Amino acid sequence: MRLLVTGGAGFIGSEFVRMTLREHPDDSVTVLDRFTYAGNRRNLESVQDDPRFMLVEGTITSAETVTPLAEAADVIVNFAAESHVDRSLEAPGEFIQTDVYGTYVLLEAARQAGHERFVQVSTDEVYGDVSSGRSSESDRLLPRSPYSASKAGGEMLVFAYRASYGLNATITRGCNTFGHHQYPEKIIPLFITNAMDDRPLPLYGDGTAVRDYMHVDDHSRGIDVALRRGDGISEYNIGTGGEVSGVTVADTVLRLLDKPGSLKQFVQDRLGHDRRYALDSSNLAALGWAPRFDFETGMAETVRWYAENEDWWRPLKSGAFWEFYSRNYRPLIAR
Ligand code: TYD
Repeated sequence: MRLLVTGGAGFIGSEFVRMTLREHPDDSVTVLDRFTYAGNRRNLESVQDDPRFMLVEGTITSAETVTPLAEAADVIVNFAAESHVDRSLEAPGEFIQTDVYGTYVLLEAARQAGHERFVQVSTDEVYGDVSSGRSSESDRLLPRSPYSASKAGGEMLVFAYRASYGLNATITRGCNTFGHHQYPEKIIPLFITNAMDDRPLPLYGDGTAVRDYMHVDDHSRGIDVALRRGDGISEYNIGTGGEVSGVTVADTVLRLLDKPGSLKQFVQDRLGHDRRYALDSSNLAALGWAPRFDFETGMAETVRWYAENEDWWRPLKSGAFWEFYSRNYRPLIAR
């Protein structure tokens, strides 16, 4: 199979690329990545000399860029997205452009190229706040942030391309993901790298909102299973079933790094903060997928990775990072 992996220089996409080249020797991978702040050439260092790998810099919103790449591929796996809720609250436009319009450009290129498969990497956040029970794939999508609305918008286009043009397209809805190579803005890498520098860990509200945190290797394998064993026309939830609060994330990081609890800092809550996501992943489990990491093991591995790879993340926590950080947190911390 010849895969076009969009957003393949990002956190989850680059793990999917490494895994595909390692585990599927007959496959080739072309990555299309725009190298926004979250994309990083270093994430692909380990595969750059593989003759089955090619890297193209460009945006999924350009049909001119995407069309020839789609023609030279058998399947598109779309990881390319703006993904940080706090950034979407500040500036939604870029999210609509990339996550909705970009998905349209890819679907259209896949249709014109006559692809038999398309994979849209989506998120559990499209279900919105889940106060009780677990979301099933057939549940209504009730997104509540500009980020989750833009991902749901991308999904709507996938539904339309299935129904209107008969495009076989799989959607995966993964839960919160963590592990090696994650840009240090999401809670886990932010808290690890802040704690390493004795900086405060900012907890939104009372820190009791819960998420299901899944290791990136498990997420990547889940997408692989959905691609290769799925029916090609369904949505698949990918989650571990765990429920971990922000306070527990902070306490775990501080314990693993042997730092004091006084680093925890409660700040004003995020706008429209979803209190809970929870997934029923039995459809993917029925295809043979199960997570290999539990939260504790994944966290220990991740803390070790950030401790051993300061040269990877330190350059990312500079200029533009702190500009966003001070806009996002300063008025809150000063409360
Ligand atoms: P995040 O990592 O931004 O992922 P998402 O909002 O997409 O689920 O946030 C995970 C949880 O952690 C969420 O409940 C918000 C909370 N959080 C904090 O308390 N402080 C922070 O600095 C960040 C980034 C998140």
